[in-house]
Amino acid sequence: MKRTHTCGDLRAAHVDQTVTLCGWVHNRRDHGGIIFLDLRDRYGLTQVTLDPDICGKDVLELGNRVRSEWVLQITGKVTSRGDKKNPNLATGEIEVFVKDLVVLNKAETPPFEIDEHIKVGEEPRLKSRYLDLRRPGMQRNLMIRHRVTKVVRDYFDAERFLEIETPTLCKYTPGGARNFIVPSRLHQGSFYALAESPQLFKQLLMVGGYDRYLQIARCYRDEDLRNDRQPEFTQIDLEMSFIDMDDIMNLGEGMCRAVWKNLLGVDLPAKFRRMTWAEGMLKYGSDKPDLRYGMEIVELTDWAPTSGFSVFQKAVEAGGVVRALNAKKATEILSRRTLDTLTEFAKGYGAKGLAWIKIGGDPSKAESWQGPAAKNITEAARIELGSRMKVEDGDVLFFGADSFKVVCATLGAVRVELGTKLLKLARGDDWQFLWIHSAPAFEWSDESQALVANHHPFTAPYDDHVDLLASDPAKVLSKSYDMVLNGNEIGGGSIRIHDSATQAKVFKALGISDDDAQKKFGFLLHALSFGAPPHGGMAFGLDRLIMLITQADSIRDVIAFPKTQRGRDEMLDCPTPVTDRQLKELALVTAAPTAAKA
Ligand code: AMO
Ligand code: AMP
Repeated sequence: MKRTHTCGDLRAAHVDQTVTLCGWVHNRRDHGGIIFLDLRDRYGLTQVTLDPDICGKDVLELGNRVRSEWVLQITGKVTSRGDKKNPNLATGEIEVFVKDLVVLNKAETPPFEIDEHIKVGEEPRLKSRYLDLRRPGMQRNLMIRHRVTKVVRDYFDAERFLEIETPTLCKYTPGGARNFIVPSRLHQGSFYALAESPQLFKQLLMVGGYDRYLQIARCYRDEDLRNDRQPEFTQIDLEMSFIDMDDIMNLGEGMCRAVWKNLLGVDLPAKFRRMTWAEGMLKYGSDKPDLRYGMEIVELTDWAPTSGFSVFQKAVEAGGVVRALNAKKATEILSRRTLDTLTEFAKGYGAKGLAWIKIGGDPSKAESWQGPAAKNITEAARIELGSRMKVEDGDVLFFGADSFKVVCATLGAVRVELGTKLLKLARGDDWQFLWIHSAPAFEWSDESQALVANHHPFTAPYDDHVDLLASDPAKVLSKSYDMVLNGNEIGGGSIRIHDSATQAKVFKALGISDDDAQKKFGFLLHALSFGAPPHGGMAFGLDRLIMLITQADSIRDVIAFPKTQRGRDEMLDCPTPVTDRQLKELALVTAAPTAAKA
């Protein structure tokens, strides 16, 4: 059995050739004794026609029994469709008149139609993923994924990077993402952790002298899942020696330019925008600003005390900030009900409320200013506000008055909600890349009531901030950089600490004792004391990158066999309990009721 062409190959130039195709029956139409089948494979669709004058009665009868998703092999002659061309199909100029038909396999009626235009719930799709994978959209996404990894490998190969694999069974390290743990049978009571990233191994490779490392690496994180997160995902992971921040950023940009050019034919700019973390938080309330629209946040903390509005005044008295953003030409879209919904949305980010003002008419007239905050502010404050916020007829202003953290989170989220959903200012194919650099090395964690590493504990502080590690660690800025695309963090990295003394100071700032540091990271401190070169690197989230390139709604649409939002594989029906025997072998007992017995 041999096919001569795929279902996407045939064009007018093939007319009169005898060909053999294999594929799945996409649909079947009976036109008074003549049967039309669309045969499908991952390359496309071809119309094959069963005319009893050409194929004979037996083949026609067989064709009559054929159902959707049966697997066929047909042989026949390519014929022009004349003026019945289908311009929506790449093979639409021709059809194949069948001479011979072999049923390679039958199929049960599928639980959903294999059709791009029919909406199917995610659960049935994931349960029968092998059928969902036949859909052209999924096939396109996975083909793009293949091409992206190829372009990436070629790009870094040309830059003299070496692809080196690192273990995924490794050691539990506190901080960062929560690890999945794997019990050891040979060392009962002990556990491996699945690697959350190759971070430490790639640094050790630098100590080992492999100055340009690349890996398309599988990572595991036991986190709460969202549309852009999976418990098991893939990084484009790189590390280099003898470089500075600019070198890594240039390479990261070069990789994106190669991918966008190759996949989409889009020329990205020679340099991407760069912004400090502080500027991102101030102007966009976010460490991953979406720059496809403006609506910059404006600082009003100095204006608030004389504004006359007690909500604002009290926030400043309590040491907080007051900031606002201006949604242009929004009065009509933002009905009273939408504004109430948006206020509830803001409360989800910790805000106590979301004061707003609608400008309906000439902004120099007091009566044009409407809304709960408008009636409270004094005339002088209103005039000052109008000039600072560049107020015009049709604007809606939104205010945040709270701690720095809450105001950033609230206005940042309100801005994105307005830009992407309510005012629809963002286009999916408007590629706004941005670097956010120089983030604080540490942030306060309410959960652990301690400072935790913002990036990870191996990130180098700026040289003139090393002394602050002991005196005022919250002020330390790090040599870190994240790549942001349309409001999504698609990659991140940093220059690393390459001397054990600074590394020890960072552990101390994080409240990790010398003893603990030795126990957990002794191998790293040891390695750093044997001539570690200055080094740094970054990792891109491959799945997120593909999700954005394909404009998919969810990360699950660019992964062949993803987990659900609840971290389950619906097809394998896992995780599942293990048998008592398996538990015994591992010397484990579980407090949860186990279903499996054997
Ligand atoms: P970081 O934790 O920022 O850095 O991860 C790098 C990138 O990986 C992607 N990513 C994810 N994608 C899908 N599902 C997840 N659960 C998930 N978590 C992260 C993001 C992110 O930008 N070792 C460092 C990199 C370095 O410093 O070199 C690291 O892992 O797109
Ligand atoms: P109140 O005086 O509590 O009725 O609030 C008046 C307006 O201010 C309402 O629109 C609230 O949503 C809003 N508001 C209350 N607290 C805050 C806050 N901390 N930041 C921003 N707006 C607030």
